[in-house]
Amino acid sequence: MSDRREDSIRASWLDNAAAWTAAVRGRHIESRVRVTDAAVLTAIAECGARRVLDVGCGEGWLCRALHAAGISATGFDATPKLIEQARQAGPGEYHVLGYDGFAREPAAVGTGFDAVVCNFSLLGEDIIPVLRAAGETLRHGGALIIQTVHPFADSPEGVRYEDGWRVEDFEDFAPGFTTPMPWYFRTVASWIAALREAGCVLESCREPVHPDTRRPLSLLLIGRKQ
Ligand SMILES: C[S@@+](CC[C@H](N)C(=O)[O-])C[C@H]1O[C@@H](n2cnc3c(N)ncnc32)[C@H](O)[C@@H]1O
Repeated sequence: MSDRREDSIRASWLDNAAAWTAAVRGRHIESRVRVTDAAVLTAIAECGARRVLDVGCGEGWLCRALHAAGISATGFDATPKLIEQARQAGPGEYHVLGYDGFAREPAAVGTGFDAVVCNFSLLGEDIIPVLRAAGETLRHGGALIIQTVHPFADSPEGVRYEDGWRVEDFEDFAPGFTTPMPWYFRTVASWIAALREAGCVLESCREPVHPDTRRPLSLLLIGRKQ
């Protein structure tokens, strides 16, 4: 069952690649524009990273932003159309690669990174293999940075606060999304446990909020490889 959902996640990105690229580049996702893009860039800068791996990089905005700041970035993603968009939009090293392939051979994208970043890209249930692979590509003492939708941002009244599959219909994003995506909801404790299980020690836990409503938008975890 879970494998079928993992396949559906990848299929939805294939179908929604153009809409996603337009939404990100058109700055249609308010939480990103106002809060979460800056939050992840600040976390990377605070780590002092000079070489970064962007896991599930999408159309490549983060790699481009890092490159503009003089930081070397390598991105990989399973969706060929998104990697094509990333390559067309600027310099940087990009690979078409799924998490299964990354888990089998982490070094295929390089090693010795100062930071590995998963920015809203861990969507499935079994994330430990990809997090362990991320750890393999880090230098000793390197940082694993995860930003994800804050669990409280997606916990409507009456819905149980527990790990489990949900569906994103992209209705609040922008026009053009055709295919809903299953995604695996995790509690805060579950995210922290995953980081530990992947061999990292939690160094920092941040909860960037909407500047007006003060509601949490994302959960940002920084772990250190031991
Ligand atoms: C919400 S987007 C985030 C993209 C990018 N990190 C950003 O911040 O704009 C999720 C990304 O995860 C990628 N992804 C999902 N499942 C994947 C998998 N199994 N292997 C590799 N990439 C995957 C998708 O193709 C998509 O680009």
